[in-house]
Amino acid sequence: MFIGLDLGTSGLKGVLIDGGQAIRAEATAPLDVSRPHDGWSEQDPGSWLRAADRVMRELGSQADLSGVRGIGLSGHMHGATLLDAGHHVLRPCILWNDTRSHREAAELDADPRFREVTGNIVFPGFTAPKLAWVRNNEPEVFARTALVLLPKDYLRLWLTGDAVAEMSDAAGTSWLDTGRRDWDDGLLAATHLTRENMPRLVEGSEVSGVLRDDLAGQWHLPKGVVVAGGGGDNAASAVGVGVVKAGEAFVSLGTSGVLFAASDAYQPDAASAVHTFCHALPKTWHQMGVILAATDALNWFGRVVERKPAQLTAELGELQAPGRTLFLPYLGGERTPHNDAAVRGSFLHLDHATDRASMTRAVLEGVTHAFRDSFDALIGTGTRIERLIAVGGGSRSDYWVKAIATSLGMPIQIPAAGDYGGAFGAARLGMMAATGAGAEVATAPQIARSIEPDMNLAPAFAEAHARYRDAYAALKGRA
Ligand code: XUL
Repeated sequence: MFIGLDLGTSGLKGVLIDGGQAIRAEATAPLDVSRPHDGWSEQDPGSWLRAADRVMRELGSQADLSGVRGIGLSGHMHGATLLDAGHHVLRPCILWNDTRSHREAAELDADPRFREVTGNIVFPGFTAPKLAWVRNNEPEVFARTALVLLPKDYLRLWLTGDAVAEMSDAAGTSWLDTGRRDWDDGLLAATHLTRENMPRLVEGSEVSGVLRDDLAGQWHLPKGVVVAGGGGDNAASAVGVGVVKAGEAFVSLGTSGVLFAASDAYQPDAASAVHTFCHALPKTWHQMGVILAATDALNWFGRVVERKPAQLTAELGELQAPGRTLFLPYLGGERTPHNDAAVRGSFLHLDHATDRASMTRAVLEGVTHAFRDSFDALIGTGTRIERLIAVGGGSRSDYWVKAIATSLGMPIQIPAAGDYGGAFGAARLGMMAATGAGAEVATAPQIARSIEPDMNLAPAFAEAHARYRDAYAALKGRA
């Protein structure tokens, strides 16, 4: 048996799978995000450990864990968890959707070595500019920083005592040579750090360490359970839905929106604002377009109109052609394709007839247009997308998935089993590390149905997408 733990932005999820990959137990513990200033987004690393403890105990109450052999980890990417020499946390973790370091990011991005070596723009959400921000604004914290860990790797440090990162998450730091799959000393030096400040690197499917005996005892696991490298949440989700070869892709409607395509070669195109990262499997890479607010945009609108997101989508009926009302989902800036930390969201063209349902539709359409932007950017780099599968909480809305299918002009498959996010992929990586299995374990899930594009509505979506592009151009620098 194998366990996958996925440290998500809004909660930590755990799944237990057996040797045949059937789900035997699952549990979730909620997590909070604090936003003390505009553009800031932080989490207390201690809360991750408490959530993991709760999830492990809950899994143990649902099933016998004495046969567990491997654990895999997945987590939200790019977060800066800063530790002193005694491995004490120095400040709250600065999360992936925190854009405070936009000035530092632009400065590092202007140094051509960063794009050349990492294959990516230095986005404000990435880890290196956050360290530059801390050095500029909290020099006493920077001076005491001995170790920089990504969120799930802090969880690993607690689980195993070992400071280890893996390639897929490390690729989102701006310190990794993404083609060679190793830290780059020059990039670390550019942010006043060295390899000494970084964890050791493994592949996602390799062993990173062994679960501590005391934790194994408390959770009724055997001794010697291996912990796999795991993956950033998107790479781990990809392993979970069998997106591991060129041509395979998924669209994730989570807090962030991600269009993810696997690739068997390293083909960066930083200028497009597409992310090119290592996959969680050896000799494999992936590309993705990242939208900072996907379900986050619907959740925001739900809070404003005091309705749950599911209530809002339930009142929509069949897919309609986009109306005149436009929504730009840039609540906390945007990554692909704009790399714009300063832009903010907008509703445009409100009239006397605008009601809650038309505004909900505009929110879903705005995120749909953002996916179209990412799709165009990915295709523009030469990436092939032959099979597209939907994951994430937002994919429960047929309306939304059909809108995206229509805008992209491609069917989108809906998996039959529940949505386990990165946790299922992490469990598969735990299985690979414990048994020596490889990518063959990462099969595609059973598909419940395929949501087809509505070709009658495709021209209306294309026209609305063009207006959406124009609106961004007109608002840029002003909103
Ligand atoms: C990817 C990204 C997000 C986070 C949170 O680059 O920032 O998808 O991993 O899910």
